[in-house]
Amino acid sequence: MAILSILEFPDPRLRTKARPVAVFDAALKKLAADMFETMYAAPGVGLAATQVDVHQQVLVADMSEERDQPLVLVNARILERSGEQVYQEGCLSFPGIFADVTRALRVRIAAQDVEGHAFEREFEGPLAVCVQHEMDHLAGKVFVDHLSPLKRSLLLKRLEKRRKQSA
Ligand code: NI
Repeated sequence: MAILSILEFPDPRLRTKARPVAVFDAALKKLAADMFETMYAAPGVGLAATQVDVHQQVLVADMSEERDQPLVLVNARILERSGEQVYQEGCLSFPGIFADVTRALRVRIAAQDVEGHAFEREFEGPLAVCVQHEMDHLAGKVFVDHLSPLKRSLLLKRLEKRRKQSA
């Protein structure tokens, strides 16, 4: 396995729309394994392939305390969404910044695993937030796109400041 480098906003490659995965081969399994290693090392709770500059519809997540519930979704699509929740989100492509985002409370997802087996699953609460956040990445969207222009510009100024301090 390998730790992959994570694109940081405003890298324009984060705006790329991922293609559906058509071939479920060893390279796909390696990509998922590398994404898990990268996410756990960061540390983060979710990672989309877009963030490691691979533009295929693959996302990984693990929101468990023990970091022992890895979830990988290939070609995920939302079948149904319901309810609403506000959750404070962060993103490995925006180190050190956090913002409240409103999203669906529950989502029903159709996806495939790394072997290509199709399944459906419902997610609720924080894990539903995570799945929606990572699916946004695969569509070329980032979490600050959900904020008001004012809130977004404040956060992006903070991000820039942090970047200058760490440079
Ligand atoms: Ni993110």
